Amino acid sequence: MSQQAPVLGPSRLADAVQAALIVAREAGALVLKGYRSRPAYERKQSYADLVTEHDLASEAWIRRRLAELTPDIAIVGEEQGGSPSPAPTWYVDPIDGTVNFAHGHPFFAVSLGLLDHGHAVAGVVVAPALGVEWHGFVGAPEAGGGCFRNGQPCQVSPTTELSDGLIASGFSPTMRRHGHPEDNVAAFERVMPRVRDLRRAGSAALDLVLVADGTYDAYWERKLGPWDFMAGVALVRAAGGRVTSLVGGEVDLTRGYLLASNGHIHDALLPLVSPDGAPTERAG
Ligand code: IPD
Ligand code: CA
Ligand code: CA
Repeated sequence: MSQQAPVLGPSRLADAVQAALIVAREAGALVLKGYRSRPAYERKQSYADLVTEHDLASEAWIRRRLAELTPDIAIVGEEQGGSPSPAPTWYVDPIDGTVNFAHGHPFFAVSLGLLDHGHAVAGVVVAPALGVEWHGFVGAPEAGGGCFRNGQPCQVSPTTELSDGLIASGFSPTMRRHGHPEDNVAAFERVMPRVRDLRRAGSAALDLVLVADGTYDAYWERKLGPWDFMAGVALVRAAGGRVTSLVGGEVDLTRGYLLASNGHIHDALLPLVSPDGAPTERAG
């Protein structure tokens, strides 16, 4: 992935985010019609990796509307794919938290993240069953940058002690088998006794924006897709937080092994969530 500087300036980002907010709200309203309907689903890569007709309808809607409103920005989506390139690209998760959605649990969201030359620069996350939305871009507040929750500026938490921390994580649906080197269970066990509590809410996009708005103090996960985290990574950074790989280096936005935090407790968490010797985790 190119590490050239982003090409979109603050006024283009502000416009793109406003367009994405409109589209994500529309898609959220569409998806909400299927909420708690016990929708039929198909299994994708595993019994824990689902797709419903609502995921497909949401992505189709988002693609059509983004093409109308931001025609010069490419699109990669979870269900229909697309071609990764350095040029500005929307990463679309039409329902993040499909397992929750399929079971009638309200923690799901539409997530639209903007990648520009290897940088996660902007994002929109709309959680229609919760009535909460987050938007923003990485930039100076004077230029409109920052993260906003339901229209109000928000920041990461001030928590400095792990024992005061509410931390989140998740488990990859394709690595669910206990004992699999990437199942995240060992890291979960290391973190649990050190923090106030640990949450597994089932939507990476929501986990990340809940770090951005100061609800969670940190979140980590392994093996996410770029549509899961692109918006959330941009919004954590826009809110003053820190995002790294699981060994503290630059996060690889093609791989999705990441720790996002308020910055203050990041270094204390790294040795707990970092790889425990499995070959596939070496790059962290
Ligand atoms: C999933 C959710 C979940 C995370 C998984 C993702 P999906 O996305 O974000 O919280 O643990 O790794 O695949 O499949 O619901 O879009
Ligand atoms: Ca997802
Ligand atoms: Ca999804």
